[in-house]
Amino acid sequence: MAAPADPGEIYDFFRLAEAEGVVTGPLPARVAVATADGAAGRAVALSTAELAFAARVAWRNQARCIGRLYWRSLRVRDCRAVTNSVGMYTALCEHLELATRDGDIRPVMTVFAPAERGHAGPLIRNRQLVSYAGYRERGAVLGDPLNCALTAEALALGWEPPEVRTAFDLLPWILLGRDERPALYPVPRSLVKEVSLSHPTLPWFRELGLKWYAVPVVCDMALRVAGTEYPAAPFSGWYMGTEIGSRNLADEGRYNLLPVVAEKMGLRTETPTSLWKERALVELNAAVLHSFAAAGCRIVDHHTASEEFGRFCAQEQAAGRDVSAAWDWIVPPLAGSATPVFHQPMCDFGLRPEFVRGPQAP
Ligand code: ARG
Repeated sequence: MAAPADPGEIYDFFRLAEAEGVVTGPLPARVAVATADGAAGRAVALSTAELAFAARVAWRNQARCIGRLYWRSLRVRDCRAVTNSVGMYTALCEHLELATRDGDIRPVMTVFAPAERGHAGPLIRNRQLVSYAGYRERGAVLGDPLNCALTAEALALGWEPPEVRTAFDLLPWILLGRDERPALYPVPRSLVKEVSLSHPTLPWFRELGLKWYAVPVVCDMALRVAGTEYPAAPFSGWYMGTEIGSRNLADEGRYNLLPVVAEKMGLRTETPTSLWKERALVELNAAVLHSFAAAGCRIVDHHTASEEFGRFCAQEQAAGRDVSAAWDWIVPPLAGSATPVFHQPMCDFGLRPEFVRGPQAP
């Protein structure tokens, strides 16, 4: 549902786009039309070039992202004409294909129709295009606890999970077109690349039977440009290893694997002073980086990513722009103080255009 857009936000966007050389037509006329559209609750009209610029700048502005050095390389697919779930399904399959390239991952964003008065859709219910089911079974969870609610929703819509459920069952897509009816689509398995995890020196690691998918395609954030929101605007880059090794597989609220790995390593888990959590984290992260590299799948380690973030900041400064950044998100969840970003003061200014949490987030 679109509320009247703030004229200041509209003006600021077109000024920025003009300053960076992408506005079509004289600025005052564009701002006047856009302000009238915004006031009426209509989506502000943008050219394809302006939309692509907005998407790239939303990435450049994303205070929580360490990987912004590559913001110019984002490939933006203008799918604003797509309003039904069948069309969305086709475009999302193409997104996976264009982004994955068998491991030679490229940043991609697909933008569907904007939110307009009286319409909730188009919308993607999944947090990410590729994700694993979480089954709540007698107090315990099989799979990814993050996705329990969505798994229940898919089951209620008639999804048939594999006969033998595992901790890594791919979730189907729940897509809403303008008709606002949730429609279930099977995930196109042949387009999903996954990496089985093994360790460079610990042979038993492979027997844990762990894996993760190659491409994170974030679907639960809306792109906001000049007061208009695009609630279905999935985007993807490549992983930083710690996202998988320190968080997805290690967090207590996720796969919670530190006790399992520590036990296999023969560590003393009765006392925190044995640093068993740190040791298990290191080996889990080593396995992720090693396995992705062995599978020919692009991934960045947190030391390289921190160094690249430094280059991004220098580039921005040279262009006369301040970098908006959230320290608690930028500092990696492993070796924090051993990376340069730990020692860098940061401030989140809330720049626009931006990505905002979508309505599907709990
Ligand atoms: N942290 C999320 C995950 O582990 C992915 C967020 C986007 N990450 C990225 N490297 N583009 O799945």
